[in-house]
Amino acid sequence: MFRKAKSVVGLDLGHQVVKAVEISMEGPEPVITGFARAEVSAGADRAEAITKVFQEGKFRSKSVVTAVSGQAVVVRYITMMQMNDAELRQAIRFESDKYLPFESDEVQIDCQRLTRKPHAPTEGAAAQEQMSVVIAACKKSAIEERIKEIAKNGLTPLAVDVDVFALANAWELCGLAEVAGEGGQERAIALVDVGASVTSINVLCGGETCFSREIGIGGQDMSQAVARRLGLENTEAEALKRDPQGREAEISRAIAPVLEDLVSELTLSLDYVENREGLRVEEILLSGGGVLAPGTVSFLEQATGRTTRTWNPLEGLRVAESRVNVQAMEACASSLAVAIGLASRACAQ
Ligand SMILES: Nc1ncnc2c1ncn2[C@@H]1O[C@H](COP(=O)(O)OP(=O)(O)OP(=O)(O)O)[C@@H](O)[C@H]1O
Ligand SMILES: [Mg+2]
Repeated sequence: MFRKAKSVVGLDLGHQVVKAVEISMEGPEPVITGFARAEVSAGADRAEAITKVFQEGKFRSKSVVTAVSGQAVVVRYITMMQMNDAELRQAIRFESDKYLPFESDEVQIDCQRLTRKPHAPTEGAAAQEQMSVVIAACKKSAIEERIKEIAKNGLTPLAVDVDVFALANAWELCGLAEVAGEGGQERAIALVDVGASVTSINVLCGGETCFSREIGIGGQDMSQAVARRLGLENTEAEALKRDPQGREAEISRAIAPVLEDLVSELTLSLDYVENREGLRVEEILLSGGGVLAPGTVSFLEQATGRTTRTWNPLEGLRVAESRVNVQAMEACASSLAVAIGLASRACAQ
């Protein structure tokens, strides 16, 4: 699946918006050389939006990295006895049914050892005898579907990633990842991407993923809450949420129950990971179009009791201004984290 490419298009097939960002390597420096987005109209086929994105994006490259998410993918963080990479691959192949709810012949499995040692080793073993491993399994049918969607547009699929990992790759690419906090202490942060239907979480401990999860709550639920509370049609509510015209307070109140549900799931996850890793998640870093709804950031900060802010995945990246509509891209920057993370594979070629 992996081929050499100097430019890579990261294609984020969101539920509501298809986004594509092209990153090209100019020497050692990654540069954004293309951008396009298209809304998936209600009830319409996503294929139309994909075609539109590739027509408008005028990308240099035909190499595309996209991702899978949702129920087709399972990610597990497990503790195993120390072994080398070849042994690990063998072990996962034979023991995958122990960790995954899928038949091994219907999924594509990948795994990687983590540098961080297990905080609480399994009984009878010392921490240095064990290692933490992340396993990702995806239904082959879901991967094939993605590949078909890309090939239909005359493009070459370079790799199929997972949304939550792309999020962390974007964070790392922007040079924002911190391995150590003040005083050399390891720090844990949570990247939280609030999309239209799904909120993706990736907790990084010392700059490395140690927990990830998707929650089925997002901006669409907020729009529906606005529609119900203010007696509007869904499309009117969506438009008002994006451009509140002085009605910010009403919208904040309408979406509060949705944010409460989101916070209770998020808190469950953070408590779990803090307990397992023996670290406090100090900061929540938000991305995704969903976080733009009025009052969302402050609500999440208050309700979780953790420093919370949005981050800009374009920060620190040079943009080829002759090829990209910078203003349009900046306007939706928060929702580009996954696309940028996918395109960051250009750096690894
Ligand atoms: N200016 C804005 N104000 C408030 N909400 C906004 C704004 N712009 C976009 N949104 C919301 O952001 C959501 C889309 O964000 P995003 O593009 O991250 O989602 P997606 O990737 O298509 O969805 P998913 O990640 O669930 O597949 C929609 O719910 C939309 O209503
Ligand atoms: Mg998304």
